[in-house]
Amino acid sequence: MGKLVWDESYSVGVKALDKQHRLVFDMLNELMERKDITVRSEPLTAALTELTAYAAKHFKTEEQLMKEYGYPALAEHVKKHMQFRMKIIELSNDTLYHKETVPVELFAFLRQWWSNHILEEDMQYRPFFEEKGLE
Ligand SMILES: [Fe+2]
Ligand SMILES: [Fe+2]
Repeated sequence: MGKLVWDESYSVGVKALDKQHRLVFDMLNELMERKDITVRSEPLTAALTELTAYAAKHFKTEEQLMKEYGYPALAEHVKKHMQFRMKIIELSNDTLYHKETVPVELFAFLRQWWSNHILEEDMQYRPFFEEKGLE
């Protein structure tokens, strides 16, 4: 799997959020580079926990800004974040049952979800925050 490279096309126009997105990419790249990840490994569980915690922090920042500025599509966006959490819970459960396909499935999901979510869904608030003068 290729690395996730953050470039300007991923910029949502808000520095704090771009910074968090870049960190998510760094975390994902680091995770995908590791060779010690199997479904029976502690590192997989640890990595999942770390990522989930950071994702929660990021979603909170994003959702709080949306609330503060009265973003009209807040509810739909929150739903997308919720779907991510649900999928991670599902994959965490699979890890408990040592489902062999988990690491591959997980990496593919994470990679695709974050890339798509930023480009398709986060990008929708870009003009809104821009208009509000947020940087
Ligand atoms: Fe988002
Ligand atoms: Fe985001």
